[in-house]
Amino acid sequence: MTPKLLVEDVAKDYLIPIIDRVSFAVAAGDFVCLLGPNGCGKTTLLRIIGGLEPATRGLVLLDGEPIIAGRPHRHRIGVVFQEDRLLPWLTLEDNVALVLKPLGTPARERVEIARRYLGLVGLAGFESYHPGRVSGGMRQRAAIARALAIEPDVLLMDEPFGALDAQNRRIMQREVRRIWEETGRTILFVTHSIEEAVGIGTTLVMLSARPSRIRELIRNDGRDRGTLIDDLNTMIMEEVERQQGARP
Ligand SMILES: Nc1ncnc2c1ncn2[C@@H]1O[C@H](COP(=O)(O)OP(=O)(O)O)[C@@H](O)[C@H]1O
Ligand SMILES: [Mg+2]
Repeated sequence: MTPKLLVEDVAKDYLIPIIDRVSFAVAAGDFVCLLGPNGCGKTTLLRIIGGLEPATRGLVLLDGEPIIAGRPHRHRIGVVFQEDRLLPWLTLEDNVALVLKPLGTPARERVEIARRYLGLVGLAGFESYHPGRVSGGMRQRAAIARALAIEPDVLLMDEPFGALDAQNRRIMQREVRRIWEETGRTILFVTHSIEEAVGIGTTLVMLSARPSRIRELIRNDGRDRGTLIDDLNTMIMEEVERQQGARP
């Protein structure tokens, strides 16, 4: 079976090498969590996969088609960032509907689709609210609805719950898992929380210290969660120390 997403020998240098050589494959419908020490290049990797940033070397293939920053491709890539990036002067419904405009969706359908996805993320009844009138968790729900509304081939999420308090974070983790089960989307989710990754991902990718490589790729298939969390904590501590040791 050809993978949905293929990351092949991707490397990225800024002033220093950030990503060394990273390769992994994602099957359609997988929920992949990317873990790694702060500053190891998780956001950079996600931006390369989303075609927002050019790779220095290597290849990203989505359904076999190369994704290259600045070049058009026929795929749809949804992105959710740590900040919701909603337009404050638009209602939640208009924020979601807006992204359908460039796709040529007729106005009436845009509203229908926006309502459907706001309903899916638990925001039915809040369509006409402005972002400033709802909680941070609700704004992040709207950002997820907006990313899903384009029916993305892959949904990229970069620490989407990083700005939420612990309670809301737990609620949103459960919610994103439910949304994934209901939509069957392929998700790539960056987090620095091991508990979060183990709680929601089907596949866990642990990156090493910068310049990052894949340290470990684990199928999260129900083996003892406690042991898995302990193992991953040990790994990330080693990588954090390695990264600190590498500093000039
Ligand atoms: N546009 C850029 N120019 C130069 N350096 C960058 C740029 N973006 C990120 N970096 C550097 O690349 C490294 C990895 O950053 P990032 O991908 O944000 O890591 P992570 O998301 O894992 O915390 C950091 O050292 C950061 O300073
Ligand atoms: Mg980051």
